[in-house]
Amino acid sequence: MKIILFLSLTLGVCSAFLPDDELTKSIARGKDIYAENCVTCHMGAGEGVAGTFPPLAKSDYLLKTPEKALKAIKFGQQGKIVVNGVTYEGMMPNPGLDNEEIADVMNYIQNSFGNSSKTVVTAKIVETIKQKE
Ligand code: HEC
Repeated sequence: MKIILFLSLTLGVCSAFLPDDELTKSIARGKDIYAENCVTCHMGAGEGVAGTFPPLAKSDYLLKTPEKALKAIKFGQQGKIVVNGVTYEGMMPNPGLDNEEIADVMNYIQNSFGNSSKTVVTAKIVETIKQKE
């Protein structure tokens, strides 16, 4: 009986510190942030609008150059960019999110719409992203 109690206590404590759990929570917060700040342009399934708003679903820009994607979310994005072979020359206004919110929405879009990523984005990482390279 004592052993079982000990085991369930240790397991309970360990799982509270699993990074996966943090990621799950961040993704859940990111989902709401996406619904409030991004869905009007990038759409509910991250499919975007052909020729106008680039997709996030299976976006090579997002998945292969996450630091550039973070820059777009942190500062807005203007000018020519190529996403999955299609050139966009539009304007994304700065969503005005704080570093924590940017990390959450990034974790959400990197792990939704058929996307998956092993990189967990934190507010600390977002803090290091500068507007000019
Ligand atoms: C008013 C419409 C609009 C809103 C709102 C918007 N975006 Fe964008 N987004 C764009 C446009 C337009 C571009 C491409 C800009 C360009 O052509 O340089 C873009 C580019 C991007 C890119 C890089 C290209 C890609 O498709 O991978 C990412 C990532 C992105 N947006 C994520 C977001 C996230 C996350 C939010 C919400 C926090 C958001 N956007 C809100 C219009 C928008």
